[in-house]
Amino acid sequence: MAKPKRRYVCTACGGVSTRWQGQCPDCGEWNTLAEEAPQTVFSSKHDLSSGGRPILFTPLDQPGEMPVRRASGLAEFDRALGGGLVPGSAILMGGDPGIGKSTLLLQVSAHMAREGAAKGSPRQAVYVSGEEASGQVRLRAARLGLSDAPIQMAAATSVRDILTTLGMMEPPSILVIDSIQTMHSDQIEGAPGTVSQVRGCAFELIRYAKENGVTLLLVGHVTKDGNIAGPRVLEHMVDVVMSFEGERSHQYRILRSLKNRFGPVDEIGVFAMEGDGLAEVGNPSLLFLSGRDEPLAGSAVFPAMEGTRPVLVEIQALIVRLQSGATPRRAVVGWDSGRMAMLLAVLEARCGLNFSSAEVYLNVSGGYRLADPAADLAVAAALISALSERPLPRDAVWFGEVSLAGEVRPVAHSSIRQRESAKLGFGRAVGPAGGPEPDGKITYRAVTMLPNLVDRIIGEA
Ligand code: TYD
Ligand code: MG
Repeated sequence: MAKPKRRYVCTACGGVSTRWQGQCPDCGEWNTLAEEAPQTVFSSKHDLSSGGRPILFTPLDQPGEMPVRRASGLAEFDRALGGGLVPGSAILMGGDPGIGKSTLLLQVSAHMAREGAAKGSPRQAVYVSGEEASGQVRLRAARLGLSDAPIQMAAATSVRDILTTLGMMEPPSILVIDSIQTMHSDQIEGAPGTVSQVRGCAFELIRYAKENGVTLLLVGHVTKDGNIAGPRVLEHMVDVVMSFEGERSHQYRILRSLKNRFGPVDEIGVFAMEGDGLAEVGNPSLLFLSGRDEPLAGSAVFPAMEGTRPVLVEIQALIVRLQSGATPRRAVVGWDSGRMAMLLAVLEARCGLNFSSAEVYLNVSGGYRLADPAADLAVAAALISALSERPLPRDAVWFGEVSLAGEVRPVAHSSIRQRESAKLGFGRAVGPAGGPEPDGKITYRAVTMLPNLVDRIIGEA
């Protein structure tokens, strides 16, 4: 009989190699290849088609239990989650260091602890910090005015200690682990933060949460390239993956769900980091507009959509003509730089504008990051206005996707964008043709091709 072949499987990405290597050839992670036990060849006597217990099939329309949800005390957090915390679920929260993950989860824990105590529920709120000493967490709680909240707080990193302790008490309503990269299990080799440790610890904690109806909140570090550090499999293991975003130098933070087994993934929660913690921003649509009085060339207002929510942002473009033959710089903050390069190419090729000897800077106000494809037209308007040094009308908003051929394409939620703009005092909207019936509150002008936009901006004013 042929000797069974050895297989080495990457614990990070699942890639298979026939020989051991220090670095996984598929994902490039180091020290992640592990030998897999050779597959047993089953004889027909041992096949899996008998000896099991029958499983139960049920119709889809069976009145099942809807997941119960517990309010977290922060409506914006519940909103991003799709309606609150689901017991027995696991939530992974990623975000850059210092963005406010610990602050947010301490605030949520305090609410759950206070509410549980008020209702006389035996379920408490447990907050385990693997990064900060208890004293540091206490200090933060004092700063947030939460010192009186009956949170069960501890500094610990051993998953065995944590689960043993939890086993001796009533399961909590929520369990915060800050962060999963600091946890360690004595069952698994390797230092905390390694792929196998992160995965093993998460597995044990998630199992505890599922068996006991606990909402588990795992904080996850984010690597330079924006992924949650550790194995991507962590994202498969949890029910919800959230990302807490924002520029540290700005006040505003956006909580986004990237995966959600219990709700939509395009909802966001908006917060402002203030002296006493994160405050909710219930109506964020005006937030990112810089309050300017004078019309400025290079500035265009864009009604963006975040899930079902409109958010108005200001796009600012600056063009600096170079005298020398130096290579001009292009810098983008808050938008995709590849997308800007494309738009510049379209403006040059289809509209005859010349950016080649000019430096181009683009900024989205308020530290906001745009992902909405409808931003193209507003960016184009800002660039044309900056190039021609003609300010855009102050009461106008711009939206639409631009194709390589220079056509302006229809986008989703056109009427919500217009309605919100009208609500905030804008009088006209410029967008793709074939939009919805204007409702009279705002004048809608359609542009079908980018050159028409250039004529309108350079011709008007
Ligand atoms: P933190 O929650 O520690 O971030 P993370 O856990 O994501 O690393 O937030 C730290 C930052 O938030 C820190 O730079 C100070 C700021 N902050 C405030 O501005 N106000 C506050 O009330 C608190 C607690 C923190
Ligand atoms: Mg932290």
